[in-house]
This record gives sequence, structure tokens and C-alpha cells, in this order.
Amino acid sequence: MNSTSRKRRPDSSSLSRTDSLSSESLSPTKSPAMTNGIRVRNLFLLLLFSCVVIYTLFSFSPIRRAQFPSLVRSLGLSSTRRRHLLFSIASSHDSWLRRSSYVRLWYSPESTRAFVFLDRGGFESDPSLPPLIVSEDVSRFPYNFPGGLRSAIRVARVAKEAVDREDKDVRWFIFGDDDTVFFVENLVTVLSKYDHRKWYYIGSNSESFDQNVRYSFDMAFGGGGFAISASLARALSKVMDSCLMRYSHMYGGDSRIFSCLAELGVSLTHEPGFHQIDVRGNLFGLLCAHPLSPLLSLHHLDAVDPLFPKKNRTEAVAHLIRATNLDSARILQQSVCYDSSNSVTVSVVWGYAIQVYEGNKLLPDLLSLQKSFSTWRRGSGVQSNYMFSTREYPRDRCGRPMVFFLDSVGSDGNRGTWSNYTRYGVENCRRAEAIKRLRQIRVLSHKLEHNVEQMKAPRRQCCDISPSYEESMVISIRKCMEDELIAMKACCGDRALEEISCFGRTFDLKALIIRSDFWSFGYVVLLQPNQAPFRILCIYPGIS
Ligand SMILES: *[C@@H]1O[C@H](CO)[C@@H](O)[C@H](O)[C@H]1NC(C)=O
Ligand SMILES: *[C@@H]1O[C@H](CO)[C@@H](O)[C@H](O)[C@H]1NC(C)=O
Repeated sequence: MNSTSRKRRPDSSSLSRTDSLSSESLSPTKSPAMTNGIRVRNLFLLLLFSCVVIYTLFSFSPIRRAQFPSLVRSLGLSSTRRRHLLFSIASSHDSWLRRSSYVRLWYSPESTRAFVFLDRGGFESDPSLPPLIVSEDVSRFPYNFPGGLRSAIRVARVAKEAVDREDKDVRWFIFGDDDTVFFVENLVTVLSKYDHRKWYYIGSNSESFDQNVRYSFDMAFGGGGFAISASLARALSKVMDSCLMRYSHMYGGDSRIFSCLAELGVSLTHEPGFHQIDVRGNLFGLLCAHPLSPLLSLHHLDAVDPLFPKKNRTEAVAHLIRATNLDSARILQQSVCYDSSNSVTVSVVWGYAIQVYEGNKLLPDLLSLQKSFSTWRRGSGVQSNYMFSTREYPRDRCGRPMVFFLDSVGSDGNRGTWSNYTRYGVENCRRAEAIKRLRQIRVLSHKLEHNVEQMKAPRRQCCDISPSYEESMVISIRKCMEDELIAMKACCGDRALEEISCFGRTFDLKALIIRSDFWSFGYVVLLQPNQAPFRILCIYPGIS
């Protein structure tokens, strides 16, 4: 700007001396050339001001927090989809035929990209299963863990051989065993939280405290499955063979990968949906208190009882997956609801089982795991120390709640799903009058769809119990209200009123249509039946 006005000054001075003089005084407005310069400067200031305004707007307003990242995402990077995941299954010739029945349950040739790595071939190709690859020779690598299996080297090297194939458009490499059952849709959702262009090693350690002491608290246990971002996987593949020379004293393939990633300076990102299942026996207690984040995998299914009674192991997993196919994010998610008039507490584990307790059970107690299972390692000196809070699972069946297992699931064609649960084992226990005839529970819910932001801070959902039940109970699951507490409610009490206030809203009772079918109803009114004037138990917002 300065240089521009200087260049023009000789021209203006040639027009008139006084003008030229005045231009050198402190009133420059009279020169047309100077006016030009001022315009440019004003324009510049305006531009600068606009920039500051826009910057401020985007820095401090919710617009930036809420919309800007998604804007960036939509411009630069599409969201993660099924086809961005490449699964590598470590198997062996001897186990494949038996274990392939698990892989068949979660693998779909149309939408899942996967390979199975074997020590030797000899199988007919089966289009309903992933393509088989015979691993490269690893005899040059040392192995000296006493009593361990050399196959650990081959299994670790799957992480190199899968990457070296250079398949296109892979964002995440997922590794697991042939007895790992993956919940693919949930994996896609959870991995969407992370940027695959950065270095991520995502998995979970063992349920068993002692197994973590033995291996590492910071290692992704291989059978539970784990994910490595594509950029990190490429780096790992380059250095893998050198690590295999250095870690010959370790037991498993997962220890070798963990050590190599540690040398690359990367630590584990814990995702609690991966399940190594280092326990034996009855998984009931573990499955009934799943973390709020989605179920990603189950492992060691041959070492535990079938997940459902009266089914074999594969049938039982297939049953769970049928529910998963209707509402993947909700599978094993726990909601707890209360019937205050009969003093009944119900814990719903969607797609699996429902427990009906007599009395008021506080929520935190129901979130701890019932020790229905036993330790992974057998023997007298073995301690049952776990990585989560546990409570006793009474040996006496009458000391346990009534249990209902998933029977069937279905969809209303829209986003609504129903699931039926039937009473398991009609034992000769004394049960409270209100629940002793219960045979079936029907659960209504909407498909749970979380975006990335909701995934980062999940909240448990609430549920309501139908106002009256004899043999059959209806429960609806819904989003909790802003300040709703999951506890036995006594908000409306034993009152006959014309107007009622619940959760900060006032309801005119005469204006309310009172129906027990609250599936399609805006508000739910729970009434004590056969009482005049009727007794209001509580009002909840419905789920329509
Ligand atoms: C489980 O049951 C199905 C049929 O219901 C059968 O085809 C399958 O072989 C059984 N699996 C085992 C391991 O027994
Ligand atoms: C589910 O339960 C309801 C009643 O609770 C029953 O009417 C319905 O027939 C059941 N559906 C199936 C498929 O079992």
C-alpha cells in the first residue's frame, strides 16, 4: 500500500502544487490517488475483520463443535464401512473343519473380507467360508518358550502376511482365532471412532487378573480379536521378522505382536467389547452384565457351556446372532426396570436373557457379574481374581432370580423390534404372588443407532413394565429422560387426583387416554388395575 501511494505521488504533484503539499500534510482525503489507496486499505481491514469474525464463530460457537468435524469428515474422509475391514483368522489344518462352523456364523461372502491362514492346505474351497491361505515357512525363526507351541510364530506372522497382500482400501486389519466369533457390524461402529490413518492397536486384555499378570495388562489377547489401523499395520509388517528373532522366549503370537508394537512406540487402546473369555463353564453372569459399549467378539466357545439351554454350541451362537442381525448395537445391552406396586425388579439383557427379582434391587448391584463361571486355569492354587466386580451366584436355584431366555425375535418392518423370552426351568421355589405365574416376557424396542459422537459417551436405556401381568409381561425399552434415574420410582404415590405431576410435567388426568398398550402411545400411564378411583403408579414418556 505504501509503495503504491509513493509511486503515484509524482503524478498528483504534477496536477497542482497545493494538492501535492496538502497530500504531504495530515489531510490526505483530497487526493483521488490517495482515496484509491484508502479504499484498498479499507477493503483489507474489512477482509481481516471478516476473517476474525468467522474464526471466532467457528472457535467458540457450538457450530464448530457440532458441525465442523462432520463437515471435514464428509469432505475429506468417508465413514468406515464393512468393506474397509479385513479379517485374518489364524487356524490350523487340524482345527479348521471343526471350527469353521463358528466362522460360518459371522462371515458373509458378499460383505465380509476375510482370509483364513492354515499351516497346510488340502481342503476343497467352500464359497460360504473365507478363502484359505497356507502360511509361509517360519522354520528359520527361533522358539524357546518351555512347553509352548511353535505355531505361535506363524500366527504372529499372519499380521505381516495379511498386510503384504496389499489389498486395496483396507482401513483396519482385524486378527482373531478360528474360535473367535466377531460381531462385524459393531466392529464397524466402534472403529469409526478412530482415525485409521493414525497408528492404533485396539483390543482388550483377559477377564482373568492372573492371565494378565502372566502375559500383560497392556496386550490385546489374540483370541478376543484385535484391530490394527492400516498405517500401523504397514509399519509392523516391515519390522515383524526382526521382532520374531528377538522375542523367541515368549509364549504366543499375540505376545510377539504386542512386543513388536511396543518397540514401534505404540500402546494398546482398550475396547471392552472384545472378549477373550478366559473362563470356563456357564457364561451367564458374564453375558448378563456387558459394558455399555457394543459387543465385538466372543472367544473360547468350546471351553464354555452352550450359551443357551437345550441348544448345542453352534446353535446357541446362531441364536444370539439372529437377534444381532435385527439390532446389532443392542445385543447384550442391559436395561433395568421396576414395578413399584409389586416390588419387582427386572433386568433385561437384550437378545439373551431376562432376570426377574423379588424386591427392590439397586442398579449398581445388578451391574456386577454373577460368578456363574469358573477360572480358566484349573487346580487348587488358582485364585478367582477377575478384572471386573463380581457377586456370588447362589448355588441354590431358589436363591436366584427367575430366568427367561430368548425364544424368538422379530421386526415390525419399521425400526421397531420385539423379542420373546420364555421362563427357564420351572422349579419348585416359593415365588412372590405377582410373578409366580409368569411364563413369557415380550420386549419392545427400537433399533439402537448411535453415531460416532453418541458412541463416545453412551448412556444406558430405560425400560417400563406393562401395568398388569399374569403369565405374560410386556416390557418396552426406551431412551431415558434427561434427569431420569434408574431406580424404583414412587413419584406419584397412592393418590386419587385430577391432575398429576411427574418428572416436571403436569398431566390432566381427564385428558389422558389410558391404555395398557403403550407401544404406540405418547405417554405411559401405569395404573393399579381394579381400583376405584384408580391409583396412579407413574407416568413415563412412551417410545412412539
Ligand atoms: C448342533 O446341532 C445341529 C442341528 O441342530 C447339527 O447340525 C450340528 O452338527 C450340531 N453341532 C454339534 C457340534 O453337535
Ligand atoms: C411372543 O409373545 C407374545 C405374547 O407375549 C405372543 O403373543 C407371541 O405369539 C409370541 N411370539 C412368538 C413368535 O412366539
